[in-house]
Amino acid sequence: MKPISSPVKNGARNNMPSHKKILVTGGAGFLGSHLCDRLMSEGHSVICVDNFLTGRRLNVERWMNHPRFELKGHDVALPLHVEVDEIYNLACPASPIHYQHDPIQTTKTSVLGAINMLGLAKRLQARVFQASTSEVYGDPSVHPQVEGYWGNVNPIGPRACYDEGKRCAETLFFDYRRQHNLDIKVARIFNTYGPRMHPNDGRVVSNFIVQALNSDPITIYGDGNQTRSFCYVDDLIEGIVRLMATPASITGPLNLGNPEEFTIKELADLVIDMTGSSSELTYLPLPQNDPRQRRPDISLAKEALGWRPSVKLREGLNRTIEYFDTVLATEDRVAGAIESTAMGAP
Ligand SMILES: NC(=O)c1ccc[n+]([C@@H]2O[C@H](COP(=O)([O-])OP(=O)(O)OC[C@H]3O[C@@H](n4cnc5c(N)ncnc54)[C@H](O)[C@@H]3O)[C@@H](O)[C@H]2O)c1
Repeated sequence: MKPISSPVKNGARNNMPSHKKILVTGGAGFLGSHLCDRLMSEGHSVICVDNFLTGRRLNVERWMNHPRFELKGHDVALPLHVEVDEIYNLACPASPIHYQHDPIQTTKTSVLGAINMLGLAKRLQARVFQASTSEVYGDPSVHPQVEGYWGNVNPIGPRACYDEGKRCAETLFFDYRRQHNLDIKVARIFNTYGPRMHPNDGRVVSNFIVQALNSDPITIYGDGNQTRSFCYVDDLIEGIVRLMATPASITGPLNLGNPEEFTIKELADLVIDMTGSSSELTYLPLPQNDPRQRRPDISLAKEALGWRPSVKLREGLNRTIEYFDTVLATEDRVAGAIESTAMGAP
């Protein structure tokens, strides 16, 4: 299927400066902070907006005193008044533990967040990007997933606040396109991993690495034969930035992810091998509506962006393990310092 596209009259982009003022919502989160790094390193001015639900100031600390960088505490479910050339909307908790914690708020973040960002983009005539997700395909009956597949989502299940919230956000993006000729870009992001993932958000890569580094049992849900594809964060950010730079006729939705497929058991074995851990595997029941298979068809992204992931799983895991090793060592040092202070040590 071709990317959904239509002729667009958006004169604003013809005069777009190479140095832009860019809004990144969810900018203190995992993907958002890497996107901020990328945009800052390209010389743009960045307004990073976050309510710090799952994001951390630490993730963007290196830019804190930079004259081109501004960090704003704000909830995207509320209107935002800023002047920017482009908007990347990434604000939304992304792991089941976090998005199921307050499901109503999750739906509000996706839906009201999209409405607010689209309203802002309309007022500013700004290009706007939406971080959608492979979860819009639900438990897919088509494999690998192509953009033309409409999905298989349970609208009343525990994952629906996220899946349906993201689906509604996509609907809003395309309605703003049709009704107001807005310049939109929608990416359906598949499992992405790398440094700055939240250490206890229950996502499989961070879970396995943290468990392996702590020599705790590695928890596999189900029999471990379900498959996932894992995209390294640098590859993903490259895809997002390339999509944002395409002509206005390319709107997506576009799959971004790594099509190499691994079983969860293979991932666990690889992490144990690479960390030299003594962790054992333990098996727990599969959560409700957990998809059996997930792999992107990235033909459209290859064609439209000339993009494909280049970081191999082993290499990406290596960098991620290094990151978590440092984080856990720092946490141990801090915990040790607190303990010794409490015990009266100097
Ligand atoms: N990481 C992945 O594998 C993946 C896959 C598919 C889609 N996505 C999407 O990419 C985006 C970023 O995901 P991530 O992995 O970086 O997750 P993350 O949880 O690290 O980042 C989300 C950020 O949004 C912020 N946020 C949440 N609700 C907000 C609100 N109402 N107002 C303002 N900020 C809010 C959080 O504090 C956090 O900083 C999300 O929209 C997610 O749905 C991620």
